[in-house]
Amino acid sequence: MARKLGILGGSGLYEIEGLQGAAWTEVETPWGKPSDAFFTGSLNGLDLVFLPRHGSGHVHAPGDVPYRANIDAMKRLGVTDILSISACGSFREEMAPGDFVAIDQFIDRTVGRPSSFFGSGCVAHVSMAHPTCPRLARAAVAAAREAGATVHEGGTYLAMEGPQFSSLAESRMYRESWGADIIGMTNMPEAKLAREAEICFLTLAMVTDYDSWHPDHGSVDIREILATLAANAGHAKGTVAAMPGLLDHETPCPHGCDRALEHAIMTKPAAR
Ligand code: ADE
Repeated sequence: MARKLGILGGSGLYEIEGLQGAAWTEVETPWGKPSDAFFTGSLNGLDLVFLPRHGSGHVHAPGDVPYRANIDAMKRLGVTDILSISACGSFREEMAPGDFVAIDQFIDRTVGRPSSFFGSGCVAHVSMAHPTCPRLARAAVAAAREAGATVHEGGTYLAMEGPQFSSLAESRMYRESWGADIIGMTNMPEAKLAREAEICFLTLAMVTDYDSWHPDHGSVDIREILATLAANAGHAKGTVAAMPGLLDHETPCPHGCDRALEHAIMTKPAAR
C-alpha cells in the first residue's frame, strides 16, 4: 500500500506550494468539522494532504482546535503518516531559535481537551511509550537537513494548555525538574489521537524562542515568534518538498504504529 503523507501546519504554515492536481476537500466527521478544508494533491509522486490546524486566518486557539475531527478526517482521506510542523519554545541553549527538533517524547499538561476516540461503549488503551514513529522521524530529519535546517534528533515536548505563555516559575520547572526540551500548545492530543487512529506520527518542532527561562532573552512574544517563523519558512517548505524522496513505502510500519489497536480494545464485541 502506498503511503499518504498528512501535514499538520501550525502557526506560520498555512499553505503548501507546488502540489500537482491540487484541490480543497471538505470532510465531515462524527466529531464535527475539522479546522479547515484539506488541501490535497501530489508532490513528486507522493500523495499529500495538508491541514492548517488553526484554520486559514488563524481562528482556532490551541484549546479549541477540533483535534478529533482533524485526525479522523485525515484517516478517512487515507493518510498513513502525519508530519506535524509546529512553532515551539526551547528549554535548551543548543536548541536555538531557527533550529528544528524531531520530537520523540511528550509530557501532556493540557486540560479539558477531548483526547480519545474511545470512551463509554468501547474502551481502548493504546501504548504511548514511544509516541512518535522512528521511520517517519528518519525521513523528516533527512528532509529538513536537505532543506538546510539545523536539526536535533530527539527531544521531549511539553504540551501546555495555553493560550497564555508560561510563567517564569513554570518555565524553570519544566526545564530543570521535568527535563522537557521543547514547549508547545498543540501536539497533544494530536499524538494520542494519531496513535488511536493507527497513523504514524512525528512532531517536527520549529524553535521560535527560548520561552521565558533564558537569562539573556526576555519573555516570549508573538512578534519574535512570527519573525523567526518568517525567516524559516524556506526550511519548512524545503522539508515538505524533500519528503517524497525520503519516506520509505514499507508497510506494515516496522514500529507497529499502524497496528496500535491490535491488543488495545477491552470491550467485548456486542452479541448479535
Ligand atoms: N509556541 C511557540 N513558542 C512557544 C512557547 N514559548 N510556549 C508555548 N508555545 C509556543
